[in-house]
Amino acid sequence: SAPGKCILFGEHAVVYGQPAVAVAIDARVKVEIEKSTSGWSIDGMKFDKNRHPHIDSIRKRLWSNDGGPPLDINVSSELFGAAGLGSSAAICSAFAAGLLHARGTDSAALPHSGIATTAHLAEAEAQEGRASPTDTSASTLGGAVFISNKKEKLAEWKYTRDLRVDGVRRTWEVHQITLPDSVKDAFLVIGFTGRPGPTSEMVSKVADLINREPERMTEIERIGQVTRAGVTALNLGNLEAIGIAMNECHRLLQGLGVSDDDLDRMVEAALPSSLGAKLTGAGGGGCMIALTTEPRRTSEAIEMAGGQVLVSPLGAPGVRIEEITENPLWKS
Ligand code: PMV
Repeated sequence: SAPGKCILFGEHAVVYGQPAVAVAIDARVKVEIEKSTSGWSIDGMKFDKNRHPHIDSIRKRLWSNDGGPPLDINVSSELFGAAGLGSSAAICSAFAAGLLHARGTDSAALPHSGIATTAHLAEAEAQEGRASPTDTSASTLGGAVFISNKKEKLAEWKYTRDLRVDGVRRTWEVHQITLPDSVKDAFLVIGFTGRPGPTSEMVSKVADLINREPERMTEIERIGQVTRAGVTALNLGNLEAIGIAMNECHRLLQGLGVSDDDLDRMVEAALPSSLGAKLTGAGGGGCMIALTTEPRRTSEAIEMAGGQVLVSPLGAPGVRIEEITENPLWKS
């Protein structure tokens, strides 16, 4: 299984090389695999690689190309679907870990950077090269991850990911933030609008704005500065400062035109009982998050404003093996 994620700071600005922070959340995707007697299947149906290109990419890399037998795959999820909570990345990470374990890798020694790389390449193949490694890193490593275009001093560097996107090589440095105990006093309440956040549409909307008004790039840079301040606040466990950085990100994202009435209403409703609140992910639908020490009150406020809620601590365990009935299933 692997956790979903939400972006705490830096969405949209990360597309322009600014840093971003995502946290794993306490809602997981589970991928069960069993040796099949009748050929590849997923959720009881014959496997169709066009419907599941990311699963297809992972099975080729880690299984079929080495002659592994067909599998029955079952996927179950605690996440809202198509909500920007990283469910496809979590499926990729869990499936990759499951295959490695089924080939004999010890569950206590899962190679996180290899799993994150396989999952990222699968997402990139399925999305024609456009995926950043944010979701797959949060899902695989768990906790809080800090993605930047350079190695940062504010967090522990884990690995480099690179990808050729439209002929241009992009590189991301993936770090992990160790969250101090005081962060455990706070929760994230995630409010889903019930509508998917159209990521590529929202990314294009920001690109059009920057093309028309290049001076607006200062707002993108400002999100980068707020993200770095947010990382310092996370390192110190300063909840008030984390909340202030979240509010500032929301204000800047509103300015870029990616919030909407539902998200703004839910953020407003959450604020009286929260330390900070903002949209998370692409915007234009999808989810908002609020940082709060009163998760019940904040959840009720967001529900009153029309959101479906999910409560999580900041950070959750990364990819892991849940249950083993026969191991190894197959060894090349
Ligand atoms: O909606 P999500 O969680 O996939 O987030 C999109 C984040 C963006 O910064 C808007 C796009 C990106 O590729 O980073």
